[in-house]
Amino acid sequence: MAEAYKLNIRPTTLDEYIGQEHIKENLKVFIKATQKRNSYLDHILLAGPAGLGKTTLAQIVANELQVQLKITSGNILDKKGDLAGILTSLDEGDILFIDEIHRLNPSIEETLYSAMEDFKVDIIIGKGKTARSIRIEIKPFTLIGATTRTGLLTAPLLSRFGIILNFDYYSVESLKEIVKRTAKILNTPIDEKSAEEIAKRSRGTPRIANKLVKRVIDFVTIKHNSKLNLQNTIEAFEFLGIDKYGLNPLDRKYLHILIELFNCKPVGINTISMALNENKETIEEMIEPYLLRIGMIDKTPKGRVPTKKAVNHIKSI
Ligand code: ADE
Repeated sequence: MAEAYKLNIRPTTLDEYIGQEHIKENLKVFIKATQKRNSYLDHILLAGPAGLGKTTLAQIVANELQVQLKITSGNILDKKGDLAGILTSLDEGDILFIDEIHRLNPSIEETLYSAMEDFKVDIIIGKGKTARSIRIEIKPFTLIGATTRTGLLTAPLLSRFGIILNFDYYSVESLKEIVKRTAKILNTPIDEKSAEEIAKRSRGTPRIANKLVKRVIDFVTIKHNSKLNLQNTIEAFEFLGIDKYGLNPLDRKYLHILIELFNCKPVGINTISMALNENKETIEEMIEPYLLRIGMIDKTPKGRVPTKKAVNHIKSI
């Protein structure tokens, strides 16, 4: 039930997918060319911050090409045999989606090289002295890799992607369209101003926008038993602890640490991680990219510093 609810709001075709215009245009051309040549789509790397719809887009590509999609992730593929098993199970033209591909361990990455380039996989059979490696052919497939950290990809892996597409944060207009679309799917009427307010607080990220639409609808229907309007939407955000920049309590705690605890002096990521009691990856991937983007922090060689905008914001609340 929960899964169906979630899948429901995901677009299934490129035309339904809102925003990321240059990515859509590119993909439309490559998909058409693939179909015209009656061939296979080149390997694609989708790069950009979390929550911008990379997995959704991979599902759309599979849907448009009418092929199967298998989904896995760099941090769960930890045995060579697991990847070989997945690769040999693929049908011709299928898509293998590897999320967080920068997290693959090096030996698994090597298995991917020959799979991507020659559609061949080396597998080891037997154990100890009798173990030997055999090379088996797999069916031509398309790898779609997703990463939040292109800089961490090795050069040999990066060079094997024929198409690299970079995601940008979404504009408020695009997010507003997504919010209206989601509210419609959830059978909840929404006015322009409320939709815009939710979009503005969604940190450029559809995953957040969709979550906020649901929470605002919950709040307004339960607390007010009424339709959404700008006033009760803003009240819902107060209740949720989401401020006008879309910052949540954890973001504000992060800024508070830089400003109050360290007096606006540069602070290293390890120190922040300890003070905030959050792991470094969460901080680097979920908190900092947006704070950097809206000019609330700067990264300097000595560490992170808050900007005037951040100081003014934190002091005003
Ligand atoms: N839901 C999540 N991302 C979306 C997008 N880009 N377009 C439409 N609906 C979405």
